Amino acid sequence: MKNKILVTGGTGYIGSHTVCELIGQGYQVVIVDNLSNSERFIVDRIEQITGTRPAFYEFDLKDAAKVDELFDKEPDIKGVIHFAASKAVGESVKIPLTYYRNNLTSLINLLESMSRHGVQNIVFSSSCTVYGQPDKLPVDESAPIKPAESPYGYTKQVCENILRDTIKSEGGNLHGIALRYFNPIGAHPSGLIGELPRGVPNNLMPFITQTAYGIRQQLSVFGDDYNTPDGSCIRDYIHVVDLAKAHIAAIDRMIGGKNKTDFEVFNIGTGNGYSVLEVIKSFEKVSGVKLNYKITGRREGDIEQIWADTTIANNELCWKAQLSIDDMTLSAWKWEQNYRKQL
Ligand code: UD1
Repeated sequence: MKNKILVTGGTGYIGSHTVCELIGQGYQVVIVDNLSNSERFIVDRIEQITGTRPAFYEFDLKDAAKVDELFDKEPDIKGVIHFAASKAVGESVKIPLTYYRNNLTSLINLLESMSRHGVQNIVFSSSCTVYGQPDKLPVDESAPIKPAESPYGYTKQVCENILRDTIKSEGGNLHGIALRYFNPIGAHPSGLIGELPRGVPNNLMPFITQTAYGIRQQLSVFGDDYNTPDGSCIRDYIHVVDLAKAHIAAIDRMIGGKNKTDFEVFNIGTGNGYSVLEVIKSFEKVSGVKLNYKITGRREGDIEQIWADTTIANNELCWKAQLSIDDMTLSAWKWEQNYRKQL
């Protein structure tokens, strides 16, 4: 049995896939989640997939005393993978203080408690949103951080800075890796876990699968007048299982003492850009379902195109995304169908 890892937000979309990969690699996993945007049954599903039930604590990381209590109860945690955060861009514009309080306080509480308990390694969920619309594509980690388009995006920038400053002040006692995710989509090959948005999805992939399943009437494609080959926006979609594996590489790197500096940042994408219309085409091909969609106006705050230069992650983490856009859309479809059938 390898080391014990605390996964915050471990019943969420990326968190649950990462927990499965960790358990698969022999790690002992402790999850903390307040279930604000996920479901308790995901713990059962993780057990079904891996044959091991992770320890599960239900509480809110804004509660500093509970965070301390957790580290007291689980004294041998070697590293933390911190997913727990609010992530809806539009919502963050409406309730910015909720976003600032939640995303910042949770990280601060964790770092304080980690320091008190001698826990030295943390992986942080960051986002390519920190780059805004980059001047140069593909974008690498040295690209300037652009003014955030939303309070959500700003929390990612500030959290990276909180981490950087704290690590510096700890003089070698704390190591951190921020993973800047591009656009995670897809689901576990078992079809047992996947993205589970509450209400109307904001993101493209769940909107596509829900439309195909008949839950939404029509998908709106937000703009076909961008300066891209087919006019729709381009993103670097990455399979959530590939993304989950990047977290294992990051935690292994720190625990194994292979990190080059105390705070490192890596882009996590495939390095390929696909347009909205190309994602739809892939979905239609793998599912055999004709999708009802129409072109509408642009969505405010959308950037035109972004995809990652992943050279540093590939070389340093010895990690590379393996799965194709068709793997992503097919697994998302399988998950949507499985999930709906059992409701
Ligand atoms: C957004 C956030 C990003 C965040 C991520 C996860 C912005 C600028 N970025 O990424 O910071 O980390 O969500 O929550 O908000 N689209 C449609 N129709 C739809 C939905 C989406 O055409 O119904 C298009 C969008 O215009 C975009 C692409 O699909 O071009 C992907 O959109 P989405 O899945 O929402 O992700 P991002 O906006 O890239």
